[in-house]
Amino acid sequence: MEKKELLYEGKAKKIWKTEDENLLISEFKDSLTAFNGKKRSLEEGKGALNNQISAVLFEYLEEKGISTHYVRMLDENHMLHKRTEVIQIEVIVRNIAAGSLSKNLGIAEKTVLPFALVEFDYKNDALGDPKLNDQHCLLLNLVNHSDELEFIRFTARRINTLLGRLFTKMDINLVDFKLEFGRDKDGNIILIDELSPDNFRLWDAKSGESMDKDRFRQGLGGLSDAYQSVLKRIQHRSKEGWA
Ligand code: C5P
Repeated sequence: MEKKELLYEGKAKKIWKTEDENLLISEFKDSLTAFNGKKRSLEEGKGALNNQISAVLFEYLEEKGISTHYVRMLDENHMLHKRTEVIQIEVIVRNIAAGSLSKNLGIAEKTVLPFALVEFDYKNDALGDPKLNDQHCLLLNLVNHSDELEFIRFTARRINTLLGRLFTKMDINLVDFKLEFGRDKDGNIILIDELSPDNFRLWDAKSGESMDKDRFRQGLGGLSDAYQSVLKRIQHRSKEGWA
C-alpha cells in the first residue's frame, strides 16, 4: 500500500490517502509540540517509537474486543488504518490527579482518584480545546444522540481497565490519557488516532519518573530514552502473550 495525496498534516502526524478510499496511511513525525503549539521541538526517532508503541497497543485492544481503526504497521514511521469521520471530541481518562485537573480544580498532584474520571474536550485548537459537558456535545452536533456519548464513555472506561492492567504488569502507572473516536464507513464508532506517550501520562511505578511528553513539557530531557523504555516493556509483554 502506497501513499497518494496528502489529506492532512497535524502537529504529530501526516495523513495520506491510498488507492483504497477506505484506507489511510499515518506518518508519525518527530516534531514535538506542547501548550497548544506554543512550545515546539524535534526529537529524532520519536515518530518511529510512537508508531511502534501505538501498533502494539492497538493490537492488544483489538484482541480484547475493542474496535479500532488499526490495520497494520507498514514500516517504522507508517501505519495503515481505516478512514473514519473524526468525532471532534478529545476523550480524557484520569486515574491519578496531574496536569490540568490539578491546576484547574486544586486537587493535589499524585492523588489517586476514587474512580476513573472521563472528561470531554472540544477538539478545536482555535478555541484552546475547551471542556465540554454532554449538552455542549449535543448542542454542537458533535454526536447524534446521548447514547453515543454513553457508548464513548463506556468504551473509554473499558480501554482504561485493559490498559491499566497491562501497564501495571510493566511496572508503569497509567496516570491519564487522551483518546479519539471516529465513525467508520458503516457508521460504527471506533477508536482512532494514536496510543503513545505523546498522549498518555505514564509514571514508572518504582521511581515515579515521567515516561511521557511531560519530559518535554517540563524540560526534563531524556524523552527518547523514556519512550524507548515504554516500547521495550510493551514488546516484552507482547512476546509473553497478553493474557
Ligand atoms: O493537560 P491535561 O492534564 O488535561 O492532559 C490530560 C492527558 O491528556 C495527558 O495525558 C495529555 O498528554 C493528554 N492530552 C493530549 N492532547 C491534548 C490534551 C491532553 O494528548 N490536546
